[in-house]
Amino acid sequence: MRAAVVREVGATPELGELPDPKRGNGEALVQVRAAALNPIDLAIASGRFYAGSPHVPYAPGREGVGLVLEAETIAPGVRVRFERDSGYGANGSLAELIVVDEAALVPLPDEADEAVAAALGTAGLAAWLALAKADVPQGGTVLVLGATGAVGQVAVQGAKLLGAGTVIAAARNADALERTRELGADALVPLGDGDLTAAYRDAAGGEVDVVIDPLWGEPAVAALGALRLGGRLVHLGTAAGLEATVPSAPLRGKNIRIVGHSNLTTPHETKAAAYLELLDHAIAGRIRVDLDVFPLDRVADAWREQAASPHRKIVVTLMH
Ligand SMILES: NC(=O)c1ccc[n+]([C@@H]2O[C@H](COP(=O)([O-])OP(=O)(O)OC[C@H]3O[C@@H](n4cnc5c(N)ncnc54)[C@H](OP(=O)(O)O)[C@@H]3O)[C@@H](O)[C@H]2O)c1
Repeated sequence: MRAAVVREVGATPELGELPDPKRGNGEALVQVRAAALNPIDLAIASGRFYAGSPHVPYAPGREGVGLVLEAETIAPGVRVRFERDSGYGANGSLAELIVVDEAALVPLPDEADEAVAAALGTAGLAAWLALAKADVPQGGTVLVLGATGAVGQVAVQGAKLLGAGTVIAAARNADALERTRELGADALVPLGDGDLTAAYRDAAGGEVDVVIDPLWGEPAVAALGALRLGGRLVHLGTAAGLEATVPSAPLRGKNIRIVGHSNLTTPHETKAAAYLELLDHAIAGRIRVDLDVFPLDRVADAWREQAASPHRKIVVTLMH
């Protein structure tokens, strides 16, 4: 099959050939139509992911949408969203064919656009499930860190849909940050020098109920100081740093909760239900996903764009 192939640890994938996968018990064979790139794909290929260096050569990509070709309980031709691990003995979604756990397939509604359906997966789910864990109060104030990224853009829109009164977007890139107003951000905080806690509080006109955090590092620690009594920070990513020194005072003094989120350890049923809700919002025009779509033979360009913080979702499509 044609596939994007990572041939060496740290290398950019290039178009190549890999053996067709074989379906095992409980697995479906799927013809891939669209696959989204995520920071984790680049982390795995570079050997930076905590699971260690990938086994090369392999096709990267941990999610996508496609047509079922063979399965035990799902008819051929059904369009599905799928996820699977890649890089550690298995090929991923940047390939014409993939075998996936049949129980983890989510059939797509007829109205779903395939590129949008691919784009809303991992990033959309992280935002949507983090907002659910944060229990956004009606009319409350939500601070979205990394609001210019794929997760952040869904979080800004999702917070509004869930009833937040004020959404504050915080990120480094000034142009992309300004564009989050179109997604519903009421106030912006550029992440740069200066007292970030004060900047968050100024933007909120007081204190913040909920922080959605794909960054960690200094922006997240500063956000703790802006939370109200009983506030929550849902932490889901480390774009700004793997470590942070967390002071005791705001946590203890304000009964703050720091809650972790990972899609990887979330039960399939929870993800399937959240994904279909999110897709429904996208189909109805309530959630917008900005995309850049690349054909498989331009996977190297797609990969480089993802590495450069694209401020949109990068999707690779496969023509059959
Ligand atoms: N827990 C989960 O299940 C889960 C799921 C999806 C993603 N994630 C994680 O969430 C994070 C964001 O993912 P994404 O899909 O939104 O990625 P993305 O689309 O590539 O966006 C990256 C975001 O991080 C910001 N950023 C990058 N480096 C930064 C730095 N040094 N300091 C401050 N901001 C920085 C970028 O902002 P600027 O360009 O404005 O600087 C942008 O907003 C990643 O760490 C990813 O691995 C976790």
